[in-house]
Amino acid sequence: MTPGRAIRLAAYYGFARWLPASNHRAGRWARLIRRWICRGVFKSCGREVNIERGAWFGDGSQLEIGDYSGIGVNCQVTGPVRIGRDVMMGPEVIIITRHHRFDRLDVPMWRQGSTEARPVIIGDDVWIGTRAIIMPGVHIGRGAILGAAAVVTKDVPDYAIAAGNPARVIRSRLEGAPGTGSAAVSNGCSGPAAAADAFRRQQGG
Ligand SMILES: CC(C)(COP(=O)(O)OP(=O)(O)OC[C@H]1O[C@@H](n2cnc3c(N)ncnc32)[C@H](O)[C@@H]1OP(=O)(O)O)[C@@H](O)C(=O)NCCC(=O)NCCS
Repeated sequence: MTPGRAIRLAAYYGFARWLPASNHRAGRWARLIRRWICRGVFKSCGREVNIERGAWFGDGSQLEIGDYSGIGVNCQVTGPVRIGRDVMMGPEVIIITRHHRFDRLDVPMWRQGSTEARPVIIGDDVWIGTRAIIMPGVHIGRGAILGAAAVVTKDVPDYAIAAGNPARVIRSRLEGAPGTGSAAVSNGCSGPAAAADAFRRQQGG
């Protein structure tokens, strides 16, 4: 680790992490300071990113976050994680990218080390509800919503709303949404209409 990086991490965990949340009166300055530090720490950091009070991201070296996205209050995001743009994250979300090993019975689990990290990928324009937990290797599709306290063990399709433990798709944002009808398909739109078809295929429809 370079000295510059180590200094930034010390400044974040020793000071900036504990500055007020962005909805506080002094939150604007706190947000700017956290963002400035994280720019020099994350693998990539987009414009207007909002890292909230108390966020934990390890050394941040494998974290990519797109423009206008945020890491919520007291969230934990460690290992290889790619967060798209325009992603909202509620408080206390946890994103996990590896597990403890537990195959042997003759060795305590804490001595067995960890599995290989499996990257978590979050598409653009996703809303992650409070206290959601996302497991290693999961891909969250573009435009998806994860309900509060969802435990997400499998990929979530584009524009799906998934909730519960384990998280299940409860409905799609594409149902009745503008731009998802046959007109959108016939004019060659590759956005939500294509996603609607993919969603139906994934649901076996
Ligand atoms: C997922 C969510 C967006 C769904 O909203 P909605 O489409 O209005 O859903 P509804 O309230 O109509 O509920 C639909 C069904 O899903 C269930 N459901 C909704 N949210 C759920 C959740 N978080 N966990 C488990 N089940 C949930 C409802 O009980 C209902 O079940 P039913 O059909 O058996 O009665 C919303 O409930 C949610 O969790 N939002 C996150 C809030 C949050 O964390 N905000 C702060 C962070 S920014």
